[in-house]
Amino acid sequence: MRSTEWWKHAVVYQIYPRSFKDSNGDGIGDIGGILSRLDYLNDGTDSSLGIDAIWLNPVYPSPQYDFGYDIMDHRNIDPQYGSLEDFDRLLAEAHRRGIRIIMDFVPSVTSHLHPWFIESRSSAASPKRDWYLWRRTSGRTEYPNNWYGFFGGRAWEWDNKTGEFYYHNSLPEQPDLNWRNPEVARAMLDNMRFWYDRGVDGFRIDVLNYVYKDREFRSNPPCLGRRPYEMQRHIYEKDLTESYEVAGMMRAVADEYGEKMLVGEIYNPDIEYAAGFLGENKDGVNMVFNFSFAEAPFNPRRFRKEIENSERVIAKRGWPSYFLSNHDITRHISRFGGGARSMERARVAAAMLLTLRGTPFLYMGEEIGMAQTPLSRRDILDPPGQRYWPFYKGRDGARTPMQWSAAPYAGFSTARPWLPVHPDYPKVNVEKASGDSSSLLRFYRRLIWFRKEQSALLDGSIRFLDAGGKTLAFLRESERQLLLVCMDFSGGGTRFSPRGLEGASGRLVFSSHDISNPEISCDSIKLPPYGVMIAEI
Ligand code: GLC
Ligand code: CA
Repeated sequence: MRSTEWWKHAVVYQIYPRSFKDSNGDGIGDIGGILSRLDYLNDGTDSSLGIDAIWLNPVYPSPQYDFGYDIMDHRNIDPQYGSLEDFDRLLAEAHRRGIRIIMDFVPSVTSHLHPWFIESRSSAASPKRDWYLWRRTSGRTEYPNNWYGFFGGRAWEWDNKTGEFYYHNSLPEQPDLNWRNPEVARAMLDNMRFWYDRGVDGFRIDVLNYVYKDREFRSNPPCLGRRPYEMQRHIYEKDLTESYEVAGMMRAVADEYGEKMLVGEIYNPDIEYAAGFLGENKDGVNMVFNFSFAEAPFNPRRFRKEIENSERVIAKRGWPSYFLSNHDITRHISRFGGGARSMERARVAAAMLLTLRGTPFLYMGEEIGMAQTPLSRRDILDPPGQRYWPFYKGRDGARTPMQWSAAPYAGFSTARPWLPVHPDYPKVNVEKASGDSSSLLRFYRRLIWFRKEQSALLDGSIRFLDAGGKTLAFLRESERQLLLVCMDFSGGGTRFSPRGLEGASGRLVFSSHDISNPEISCDSIKLPPYGVMIAEI
């Protein structure tokens, strides 16, 4: 590994700033709160989580229609979260602990309150008119084409002042930029430079597959579906292969600095398409998120298929990465069944995430087993949730405050938080988990610190073993080390003999359970219910 490729060995921790920790008692998480919890994330010892990088969801000034994904000013910090000085302090304090900071970059849209859009909207002759996507038709009853927005409704918003429509894939308050205009591309790339110059270590790039739209604005072809958005094939307003170019432009800017990491959110389960953003000869992003892995059910065969797919498709061009939860999808502990044994399943999931070949992304709270928060209609703040309730309840349930302790509001704030705290917080919280040697948190810590020392886990190849339908088993092999990793997905425990390892024996180096005899015979491996074992062969 080249030293510039630090991200290949990193465990990344995603922080949704609004909900991590409130430092000034207004019920909203902020940078001061993150600063106060850096030692929890990594204080250099194994009594901290041990993560290597933080991905921060947007903290830029925003009217918060889409909770920060509607940016008004790309070069500042929203006063709700702090100031530029606070951010610089966060960078310095994080770096002092060996933690890198990855910001969120939202290329395709801005807020309707961004000065660029205010200028663009002011007149059809504005020098910034062409910075956004304006179309003229015979009048307000004739849409420019049949495109619908991802959050519902037509993607075209009528603007009375100039009698034209502008395009927005998300909310009307999030007009889409025109990346075909070189001035836009230049201005946006300069915004990235602004943060690199401050010392930011990279970007998570929001919906990179939405950047370019069809040059001719052709209508999408129809297909069967329930809602209007689903009744067309989205081939003209997203998923264009032309958008690969943008990844290349961003790479070139990152390379002006060296050691910078880019991970693309390609909101599309087609991993072949997503892989295109990795570019050829390192002229794309370093990693892309793997949504088909993230959304797979708790089934070892399905995960194996997704991982092998990723190995086949991603590995040729770049470096794999894996996540199971984020701020947009239902927390995996809830997706995997919840109930009395949910913590055990979460442990298996964590073991998988942290032992694959690739960079794991954790979502804040998963390390203590935070579940999706059940909310009632009046609590819903996420616009698609408000729109589609009760068919789709929105994303708030995955965004509720981090559960620090059994104190009121889970120790997140002294005031009523912006979203309710999950009612399980007296039992599920950091303070309690830290003191319990059998907790999920202690398991994450132990495995993350273990991982740092294992060359096979960091750099080794991966090869799956046939171990039946209950178990996921694979070998990780580096020049110095051969590790067998296996875990029981059935909850009933298993005994198996992986094909290809007949007669081999090994020594247990990591386990979820206390196992008295560290000697392993590969002819008969016994896994306790939801057990995880790593053996050196
Ligand atoms: C991305 C973000 C999501 C946001 C959307 C629209 O998918 O992750 O939170 O709502 O883009 O901007
Ligand atoms: Ca606050």
